[in-house]
Amino acid sequence: MLSIVHSGALRGIEVVDVTIEVNSGERGDPRFIMVGLPDAAVKESHDRVFSALSNSGFMCPRMRTTVNLAPGYIRKEGSFYDLPIALGVIQSTAQVSMKLLDEFVIAGELSLSGTISDIRGGIAFSLYARQNAKKLILPPKSAAEAALVEGVEVFVADSLANVTDFLSGGTPLARAVPVIKDLWAADRNYAIDFSDVTGQLVLRRAVEIAVAGGHNLLMIGSPGSGKSMVAKRIPTIMPRPSMDEIIDIINIYSAAGMSLGEGESCFRRPFRSPHHTISSVGLLGGGVIPGPGEVSLAHNGVLFLDELAEFNRATLEVLRQPLEDGEITISRSSGKVTFPCSIILVAAMNPCPCGFLGDKAGRCKCSPGQVAKYRSRISGPLIDRFDIQIDVPAVSLADLCGHRRGECSADIKVRVERARAIQNARFKDTETTNARMVNVRDGCPLNGTCQNLLDMAMKNLHLSARAYDKILKVARTIADLATSEDILEKHILEAIQYRSLDRIFF
Ligand SMILES: Nc1ncnc2c1ncn2[C@@H]1O[C@H](COP(=O)(O)OP(=O)(O)O)[C@@H](O)[C@H]1O
Ligand SMILES: [Mg+2]
Ligand SMILES: [Zn+2]
Repeated sequence: MLSIVHSGALRGIEVVDVTIEVNSGERGDPRFIMVGLPDAAVKESHDRVFSALSNSGFMCPRMRTTVNLAPGYIRKEGSFYDLPIALGVIQSTAQVSMKLLDEFVIAGELSLSGTISDIRGGIAFSLYARQNAKKLILPPKSAAEAALVEGVEVFVADSLANVTDFLSGGTPLARAVPVIKDLWAADRNYAIDFSDVTGQLVLRRAVEIAVAGGHNLLMIGSPGSGKSMVAKRIPTIMPRPSMDEIIDIINIYSAAGMSLGEGESCFRRPFRSPHHTISSVGLLGGGVIPGPGEVSLAHNGVLFLDELAEFNRATLEVLRQPLEDGEITISRSSGKVTFPCSIILVAAMNPCPCGFLGDKAGRCKCSPGQVAKYRSRISGPLIDRFDIQIDVPAVSLADLCGHRRGECSADIKVRVERARAIQNARFKDTETTNARMVNVRDGCPLNGTCQNLLDMAMKNLHLSARAYDKILKVARTIADLATSEDILEKHILEAIQYRSLDRIFF
């Protein structure tokens, strides 16, 4: 008898259709055959399934049984199919009639005793089930994750016996509840705060604008000027993510088999700071089974590249296009996989090899040639991707020893979130930020005075067309932070200041 179970295969962060057909009672010697591009882990499911069947009170087939994972051209990886295969075997050997089977998408790994372990990609399965108007049966943790997606009925698979009973019309399985949802509302406590940073008003202001408008930020300054210190405090002022953004974030981590952290930390925007020795695959994504890189793990959050000049230059160059597009596509012989990477890129570097160029005490002994060579590690077009570029001077002794503490993170965050709310209203809740504005000239209308001011700056500072757009977008964010409907002269003037490096690099 033939039975059919609906499941899915994870492709990057998406689930694609996989149907499990089990046919039992064919002629021939009593063998268990699996076809349809299974990898080693899938092939091993034979042993787990048979053990789980007998330990759950079912019989293992004594007849020839064929399992076909369709469609055949998709490579099946991992242990997603244990549970659907076991159900297919039970149904096809007529041990239990599961009349509800067709309504569900099912995935899960079986233990030898018949309990069910978690799989990757709970959210991806949920999105897939919703799209195909199916209900979902998943292992406990995967189910809790899947339940975050609205409009899908998710049931918790606790044991093979219970799932079988449920599908044959018996005792219902428990519905999955997204327990972590409540934690979203809770305010976070961080051990660090912006009030730890004394002085550095320009730097603090630049970070606030960057986070408020989603702008990429480059900090250039001597060692000890507080670049890393400030960057580490960015999470404390990042705006709260929307539910859709959270689902996107968790989907990436779950599909990669990574944990974003338990409980409440699932509901933060990510902040990733990979070391400069990271490989190209580590930063951009890839691998035999294509997985997300740091740039995608930072999706909807911040990617911080400290000591930018130490990163592999070729790798950084590849980063340019994804930064612009907000997604990165990885091509493999098995097909293409796309990961989102809508990020704020924050980077820090020294101004020269020794780090003290421009130092008042004259500590820098680097030759102009050495400085030029050092800077050439970062290409002009990459520098151009930073909407905000600032020189960070060494913190003055007076500031450092002064007891005036800086403004605290909570107060900054209020302004950031207010500016984000204005942007949400402007872009009709599409979660676009000013930095990702498509039609800049229409989105940032200028009055005559402002237009003249900008034109003059373009001419005198020899700014590129890209710089022109960036200045407009940053000026828009500055206006939003000031809750000003119009972009004013002072907003343009401030935005122009953040392009200081255009002149040094070109
Ligand atoms: N503005 C500042 N306020 C308070 N401490 C500071 C400030 N700038 C630097 N520091 C101190 O100097 C240390 C080194 O700063 P760091 O952020 O590592 O500098 P950079 O990354 O620019 O080399 C910090 O850990 C902090 O103790
Ligand atoms: Mg540093
Ligand atoms: Zn130097």
